[in-house]
Amino acid sequence: MAPKVSRIGILTGGGDCPGLNAVIRVVTKAAITRLGIEVVGIEDGFLGLIRNRMRPLGMDDVSNILTVGGTILGTTNKADPARFAVGKDAEGRLVFEDVTPRVLEHIADRRLDGIVCIGGDGTMSGAAGLIQRGVPCVGVPKTIDNDLMATELTFGFTTAVQTATECIDRIHSTASSHHRVMLVELMGRNAGWLTLHAGLAGGADVILIPELPYDLEAICQACAERTRRSKRFTLIAVAEGAAPKGGKQVVNKVVHDSPDPVRLGGVSVLLSEQIAEKTDLETRATILGHVVRGGTPSAFDRVLATRFGFRAIELIAEGQWNRMVALQNGRITDAPIESVAHQQRTVSPDDDLIAMARAVGTCMGDAV
Ligand code: F6P
Repeated sequence: MAPKVSRIGILTGGGDCPGLNAVIRVVTKAAITRLGIEVVGIEDGFLGLIRNRMRPLGMDDVSNILTVGGTILGTTNKADPARFAVGKDAEGRLVFEDVTPRVLEHIADRRLDGIVCIGGDGTMSGAAGLIQRGVPCVGVPKTIDNDLMATELTFGFTTAVQTATECIDRIHSTASSHHRVMLVELMGRNAGWLTLHAGLAGGADVILIPELPYDLEAICQACAERTRRSKRFTLIAVAEGAAPKGGKQVVNKVVHDSPDPVRLGGVSVLLSEQIAEKTDLETRATILGHVVRGGTPSAFDRVLATRFGFRAIELIAEGQWNRMVALQNGRITDAPIESVAHQQRTVSPDDDLIAMARAVGTCMGDAV
C-alpha cells in the first residue's frame, strides 16, 4: 500500500506561462475536496524550498485565478538546489553550493509528503534531483517553448502561439503598407515550435527555426523573388535560437546564476541589417520577447492545465509518485520525471509542419 499522504507542497518553476494558476487551482481544490489533504504553496519555485518561504493554500486562495496569467506563487529560473549561487568570491565570481540538505530540512519542517512541481525541463531536472534524495514529486509540464520530452504539448504553448500570431498579423498589415521586409522574432530557446506554429498561422513568407540552420542567400532570394512577383513585402518569422549554417546563435545576455545561463535574442536585428545590405529592400525587426509569455490563458490551455493538474492529484491518490503527467495522441498519460530531465524536444527536420510550410511556398531559410 502507498504511504499515507497528509500534506503536499506545490511550486511553479522556470519561466512563467499562461495556465500556471489553472493548475494551482485544480491541484489545491482536488487535493482538499477529493483527498482531504492539505496544500502548501511554495513561493518562487525551488527558491521557496531553499529559503523556507511557503504558505498554506485554501479554497479561497485559489478562487478567481483560473483566467489570470502568470503564477500566484511566483517563480524563478535561477534556483537549482544542486547548484545554487550563495554569494561571490574575492574576485567577484559567483560561488555555487549544493543546498539540497537545507531543502530537505525545510521539507521535513513543513511535513510535506511530496511536491507537485509545475515547470519545464529545468524544473523537471530539479525535481529529479529531489527524487534521488528521497523526496516524492509529481511533475506537470509547462512552457511556451513546448520542448519537454514525453509530452506532445505543454500548457501555455497554444496561448503563446495565439498571441504571437496576433502580433504577426499586426506586423503583416504595416509590412504591406510600407513595402518592407519585416522580421518578427519569437522566443523558444533551442526549439522552433512556437515560431513554426505562429509563422504558419500568420502566413509568414519565411520561417527560420534553430533546427534548420539558415542560408542568408536563400532568405534574400526569397525576398527578391517576392518583389519579382509584385509582392511588395516579406514577412519573416524568426526564432530567437535560429542560426546561420556553420554559425552561432545570437546571445542577448548570460545570467550567471541561472542553471541555463544563456538568454538568446537579437538574431532578427542582425538579419534585418544583413538583408537590407544585400537586397536594398527596406527592413525592420520586432522582438516580441516576453509579450508572448504574458496574459490570460486561452480556453484550450485552461482546460489542458486543468486536465494535467487533476491527473497529478490522481497519481498522488494512486501512490504513483515521481511521474510527470503528459499528453500523447490527445490523451492524458504520464512518464517518469527522470526520463524527461536534462533534455529538450526539438522540431525534427522531417516534421509534417515543415513539409506543409514548404508546400504553401514558405522559405525555411535553407537552400532546397
Ligand atoms: O523557456 C521560456 C523562455 O521564455 C524562453 O523561450 C526564453 O528563451 C527564456 O525563457 C527567457 O528567459 P528570461 O525570462 O529569463 O529572459
